Amino acid sequence: MIRIDTAGTFRLGDRSVKRLGYGAMQLAGPGVFGPPKDPAAAVAVLREAVASGVDHIDTSDFYGPHVTNRLIREALHPYPDDLTIVTKIGARRGHDASWLPAFSAQALTDAVHDNLRNLGLDVLDVVNLRIMLSVHGPAEGSIEAPLTVLADLQRQGLVRHIGLSNVTATQVAQARGMVEVACVQNMYNIAHRDDDALIDALAADGIAYVPFFPLGGFTPLQSSALSAVADALGATPMQVALAWLLRRAPNLLLIPGTSSVAHLRENLAAADLVLPDDAVATLDGIAAGAA
Ligand SMILES: NC(=O)c1ccc[n+]([C@@H]2O[C@H](COP(=O)([O-])OP(=O)(O)OC[C@H]3O[C@@H](n4cnc5c(N)ncnc54)[C@H](OP(=O)(O)O)[C@@H]3O)[C@@H](O)[C@H]2O)c1
Repeated sequence: MIRIDTAGTFRLGDRSVKRLGYGAMQLAGPGVFGPPKDPAAAVAVLREAVASGVDHIDTSDFYGPHVTNRLIREALHPYPDDLTIVTKIGARRGHDASWLPAFSAQALTDAVHDNLRNLGLDVLDVVNLRIMLSVHGPAEGSIEAPLTVLADLQRQGLVRHIGLSNVTATQVAQARGMVEVACVQNMYNIAHRDDDALIDALAADGIAYVPFFPLGGFTPLQSSALSAVADALGATPMQVALAWLLRRAPNLLLIPGTSSVAHLRENLAAADLVLPDDAVATLDGIAAGAA
């Protein structure tokens, strides 16, 4: 039986969630566009996650679009009291599956209402403002205008907590001067560590950091050092990558994505994997090699 409690919890908004959660993006069709080939299998993954103790699911209405939110509603509504669903706004999909900014006041307001309707909720637990100044990664620039809109939606009672995604440290500071920031969701994994300093700063202030692409994203991590450590520990490379993140800092909340129940079980079992210090030293070298 999988016991994800062993990985501990961390504060997300006004709740504590388990540090191993689930990211729903992989449940949409190829390229995160359109429906999955097997919707029943997607529903089974979501139900297995919650049955295994997951109480934090990451999603967005731009996955599909609207596909993952509707699957979550079909699989899990009415939701368990302790389930925290985190969504994100700020992007939209083109007809060609492209990812486009959607930052006007109207677009942000519509996105909150779309998420409420498709998830079947009266209020969204956490909404991440996904910054799209560059699609390739965080880029400097003021986020005051869209954050003002989201803060207003929060004041209207439609959003409990505000998070940020794809942001620089400067933008996090700007946002914290305007609203209470519940979490930051940026790309980070064992091979991609641009946010090391930001993670430590947020940990010191008790703010959750939620790495996206924890397993490397669309092309999962491949590294001989990772495989060697996994073999030595009788674990899989993906489990070691997750265990490394759990050990990296106490404020990291993990949302590995998968469309497979077998991979989900494998990933959640990383909660029990303890990495010896020599393994951590080897794993810490991976990012240096990738740089
Ligand atoms: N804020 C943002 O801009 C942003 C961007 C991207 C993602 N996200 C969020 O972050 C979550 C996690 O990111 P992600 O799903 O894109 O990437 P990920 O978790 O790094 O990796 C997912 C990929 O790894 C594969 N995988 C998962 N478990 C595996 C295992 N045990 N063995 C082998 N392969 C495995 C999946 O394929 P299978 O389906 O075959 O398992 C999928 O191809 C998303 O679900 C989404 O909620 C946010």
